Amino acid sequence: MIDSQWDFTLISKYSKVIERKLIIFKQIERIMPIILAIESSCDETGVAIVTNRNVLANVVASQIDLHEEFGGVVPELASRRHLETINFCLEEAMSQAGVGWGEIDGVAATVAPGLVGSLLVGTTAAKTLAMVHNKPFLGVHHLEGHIYASYLGEPSLKPPFLCLLVSGGHTSIIHVIEKGKYSTLGSTRDDAVGEAFDKVARILELSYPGGPIIDKMAQQGNPLAFKLPEGKISLPNNQGYHPYDTSFSGLKTAMLRLVERLRQEGGEIPVADLCASFQYTVAQALTKRTIQACLDLQLNTIAVGGGVAANSALRKTLTEAAKQYQFQVFFPPLKYCTDNAAMIACAAEEHFLCGQVSPLSLGVKSRMRLEDIHQLYVTAN
Ligand code: KG4
Ligand code: ZN
Repeated sequence: MIDSQWDFTLISKYSKVIERKLIIFKQIERIMPIILAIESSCDETGVAIVTNRNVLANVVASQIDLHEEFGGVVPELASRRHLETINFCLEEAMSQAGVGWGEIDGVAATVAPGLVGSLLVGTTAAKTLAMVHNKPFLGVHHLEGHIYASYLGEPSLKPPFLCLLVSGGHTSIIHVIEKGKYSTLGSTRDDAVGEAFDKVARILELSYPGGPIIDKMAQQGNPLAFKLPEGKISLPNNQGYHPYDTSFSGLKTAMLRLVERLRQEGGEIPVADLCASFQYTVAQALTKRTIQACLDLQLNTIAVGGGVAANSALRKTLTEAAKQYQFQVFFPPLKYCTDNAAMIACAAEEHFLCGQVSPLSLGVKSRMRLEDIHQLYVTAN
């Protein structure tokens, strides 16, 4: 007699593998490459397998539990944890995708920007696998990966468009001019927006990471309860403000002073109102700059990426403003907004299709401009 529970689990597991195999066979007819990628630039170990912008496997091992007690990412702990989890993630991704090394055409890894120790783990693993299995290696710029996350959610998306990239480590407004060609129009001058969410959560004695909990608390609060500074960047010679750059450290300090004053006055701290007012101010600041950039560059499409793309106030404010100007806005599914290797594989696939690969001598970099990504590739014979 067959154990029905076991039977169903097995059938469901194999039907997923067959489904993925069918996608692969279809791609093979069209001669599309299958790319395995590793993401380890910060506190997420990711391994994914992608073909023709179809995700065959996407494994992410989060390190939130490790960094929670410190209220932020501890670089040494992060790289050690990447080392401990990477082999498991690789095995899991190969098994999820149902592919063997014979079917994989290229091995990619995030090489910049990020925490050097963490980047080294993923990059060394990818280069080793590329060497052992005789496959080309592709180094990927993390921010280009975040841009390519939009293609995973919206395959019809085509440059030119504007990308608002809002994560724990980055806040940028990027003009995606054409394939592989970018111009960063504005960035944060101090804290990244996700970092500001995490720091404000600490001020309010909320859990880490701060974004999701602030977003949740804000649902019960009044966004207009407290007027907070938006953080504008002055231009020299009294020429007004920078149209696209942001600053969040002033807003964070204003929150700190406000909470200190409320605590001194005694009584209950209106956490929900504080959260709602904070994220309202952030959403306004980001929306204003994004819409302005679209108008200035005569673009009509916006793709949002990074963990803060999950924020409900940002989603609502930007969607409403875009509607007013008849701009399209795309928010990728959350699993592709936060750090993952599927977006890295998707970016690597584009370079592979353009005949670009990276030399094995390519090193990792903590900082790198998106405009310089051509430095990562040579054209394959
Ligand atoms: O993209 P991500 O996973 O990592 C980096 O590349 O940094 O983004 C993580 C950040 C954290 O700072 C977290 O607080 C923030 O995204 N975040 C949010 C929300 N969910 C995650 N921020 C605001 N609202 C959210 N719902
Ligand atoms: Zn990221």
